[in-house]
Amino acid sequence: MKQKLFVLLTAGACLAALDHPSDKKQRGTGLLFEAVAFAQAQPAPSGPQMSEAAFKNIQVLKGIPVDEFMGTMGLFSAALSVCCGDCHTGAGTDHPQWEADPPRKRVARRMIEMVNSINKQNFNGRQVVTCWTCHRGAQSPAQTPTLDAIYSTPTFTPTDILPAANPATAGTPPADQILDNYIKALGGADNLAKLTSYTAKGTSHLFGEAQADAAEIYAKAPNQLATFVHQRGGDLARTFDGRDAWVMLPLTVVGEYPLNSSAREGARLDAQLAFPGGLKAFFKNWKVSYPATVNEKDVYVLQANGDNGMLATFYFDKKTGLLDRVVHDATSAVGRVPTQIDYSDYRPVAGVMMPFKYTFGWVSGQEEYVLAEYQPNIPVDRAKFDRPVQRAR
Ligand code: HEC
Ligand code: HEC
Repeated sequence: MKQKLFVLLTAGACLAALDHPSDKKQRGTGLLFEAVAFAQAQPAPSGPQMSEAAFKNIQVLKGIPVDEFMGTMGLFSAALSVCCGDCHTGAGTDHPQWEADPPRKRVARRMIEMVNSINKQNFNGRQVVTCWTCHRGAQSPAQTPTLDAIYSTPTFTPTDILPAANPATAGTPPADQILDNYIKALGGADNLAKLTSYTAKGTSHLFGEAQADAAEIYAKAPNQLATFVHQRGGDLARTFDGRDAWVMLPLTVVGEYPLNSSAREGARLDAQLAFPGGLKAFFKNWKVSYPATVNEKDVYVLQANGDNGMLATFYFDKKTGLLDRVVHDATSAVGRVPTQIDYSDYRPVAGVMMPFKYTFGWVSGQEEYVLAEYQPNIPVDRAKFDRPVQRAR
């Protein structure tokens, strides 16, 4: 039952189970988030707040900022297809004890050490083995290949770092040409340069929820972006003010937290993609890989490395030249933390093709946005891009 209901059993999706009356345990797991109020100090201006300072019982995941810590918890949940409360048992009670050490959490802690030592002893400390390498969504990894896996349609999972393709033989244009076509398809560099701000309104549908929530987007060139979703239990927000990035969630352990390092680079990229005229210059090392298919469309594939270890992969529609998908990965203690945005329903706004639909997926949930309207070139209050503030409850 549980397995069927939750395709992606991370914080956001576990929350979705609140709507399902038969799953009392999950119901509790979701509700607890509201009850948790961590005594979280403000991050010192000198540097990000580290996990061991924010939490009570950190034994192995030390020395990483809170955003990376939460990304790591999301990766654990995704790798094993479990909810937070499956390791943090007792998390469904009125007094969740995240710092307690129930058996599965202790196994997980041993696994972190095992993974670290496998990588150290065999791969020069490169993070090539992760929880996903073995678990692939199962709590107990399979030992034996099924013959179906060999003789039916193979499910192919590409490696994170894609192989470089030779445009002369691989059926792909070079990176430069794909990027130039993208600018042309969007409406051209001139039109892009004339779009200096916009707001958009619509809805966001959280994975597993029955109802959509109202959503607002604010953007200001060259790279400021803010998204607000008014969810049932509070607001979700992502802001980037050109320098600092914040995430605010209604129902999590930590209310809002800054993104650091590679995760902040991901937020910077999202904001750049709000004004894609600057995309080409965003990266210095574009690499073209082999064409692929995403969302049933044939696409050209580009990959590039951002600052602080951020990795980004772009999928451009062969027919339209527009961007179908971008995946950017942040680094973490146990491997990369992916964020994936799928764009569709492009329509012209002030001479620029803008996506009226997109899906934002990360390890803590997936939101499907449908925009009703864009308002191009209107003044946007600077404060929108600041550290978000939760609405009063
Ligand atoms: C596979 C098991 C597993 C899952 C699933 C999991 N965690 Fe954890 N969690 C751990 C382990 C192990 C630690 C301790 C890490 C350490 O000692 O360095 C921990 C620690 C924590 C802490 C710190 C508690 C304290 O005060 O010391 C918080 C908060 C937390 N997890 C939240 C979450 C959230 C939220 C989720 C769901 C998104 C989640 N965890 C999913 C295994 C898990
Ligand atoms: C090298 C393969 C491998 C890797 C990598 C790996 N695991 Fe495991 N894990 C296993 C196997 C095998 C089992 C089942 C052991 C058994 O059945 O006794 C397991 C079991 C577990 C369990 C217990 C599940 C249950 O049913 O209670 C947890 C929790 C877990 N792993 C967490 C993790 C986490 C978190 C990571 C990444 C930090 C990780 N594992 C990485 C192989 C792996």
